[in-house]
Amino acid sequence: MFANLPAAKDDPILSIGMLFNADSREHKIDLGVGVYRNEQGQTPVMQAVTQAQQNLLASQTTQAYIGLAGNAEFNQAMLDLLLSNTAGYSRAIAMQTPGASGALRLLADLIASAKPQAKVWLSTPSYVNHQPIMEAAGLSVDFYPYFNPETKQVDEAAMLEQIAKLGPDDVVLLHGCCHNPTGADISLEAWQQITELALKNGFLPFVDLAYQGFGQGIDEDIAGLRYMADKLPELLLSCSNSKSFGLYRERCGAAIVIGETLKQANNARAKLFELARRSYTMPPNWGAAIVAEVLGNAQLTQLWQDELNQMSQRMRSLRQALVDEFTQQSSSERFNYLVQHQGMFSLTGFSQQQTEQLREQHAIYVVGGGRINIAGMAQQDIPRIVEACLAVGA
Ligand SMILES: Cc1ncc(COP(=O)(O)O)c(C=O)c1O
Repeated sequence: MFANLPAAKDDPILSIGMLFNADSREHKIDLGVGVYRNEQGQTPVMQAVTQAQQNLLASQTTQAYIGLAGNAEFNQAMLDLLLSNTAGYSRAIAMQTPGASGALRLLADLIASAKPQAKVWLSTPSYVNHQPIMEAAGLSVDFYPYFNPETKQVDEAAMLEQIAKLGPDDVVLLHGCCHNPTGADISLEAWQQITELALKNGFLPFVDLAYQGFGQGIDEDIAGLRYMADKLPELLLSCSNSKSFGLYRERCGAAIVIGETLKQANNARAKLFELARRSYTMPPNWGAAIVAEVLGNAQLTQLWQDELNQMSQRMRSLRQALVDEFTQQSSSERFNYLVQHQGMFSLTGFSQQQTEQLREQHAIYVVGGGRINIAGMAQQDIPRIVEACLAVGA
């Protein structure tokens, strides 16, 4: 059976993690990892999550199947959190999925069922799994200009010029906030302009929201998404609870569809059920039950918001400290872009040779292409990180 199986490609991020684990140097620093870490290097369980788990354990009455849509309270809570007071709210359905990854695949399958000739447009660059997931669903993929490696910002003019050429057979995948891997987000004006273009030319926006609350704030981070949900007849949304609730291993996320009418959205939901049934069938309940418990309890919601704000505050202060240190050590302001980026990641533009030198000579691990995870560092590491980056010619 497996004699002629072609060798699988290495996952670029997981292979950096394996090299890091095998490194015996005590002072090694992992900036490659894709999870939030606190000052002590841990990915903590949020207190709101711990309390919600205690409540759930005390009140749990069954472990029976939860059905194809997953946890109904979770689905409603996600619609309320993301879309309440938008015009799209009353025409939206949500379905719990195994992480945003599951939602991305399910929504890709939905697009392929509705319009097999559709082309999905991704940012250059985009989250490493976007292209393989879309292609696995049989969709063709193309790229719109996004990150300008010189300015380290989004080239919104070039992005909009390409998007303006798209039409009813196109789907435009946008990162809700805290773009992975670049850290560079589009302005609210760009969200508004893309919305106008979608209304005029008929392409379908598909928002992937994996880092709500990691940027400017829980509401601020979804201002662009909410603008679209208010104005557009149709919208696709995949969202993740991995980062915002620290529930990485519970595999909790949602696929949300806004339809032109609620009837059309429900029709899409029925199709999503069919698509889920033929692969994983039902999502796991526990993560979704935790999120529903947190969002359904005012005191836990407040605790969750406070904790999430502290996490984003930590990332903002690390960014500022990095820039201050770079400015001091290099007498140059060329690293100021780090405070303009949002969330965990920044794309530094380090070359392959520089990332290897950082790893081999300085025990600092960075993903190929130069993506660094700001949350992977402690304040006390910053002078050494900056010194190493400058030593390899950054
Ligand atoms: C942009 C983006 N989308 C989706 C995901 C997948 O998230 P999940 O853990 O919910 O599957 C990630 C995870 O890193 C991501 O960065």
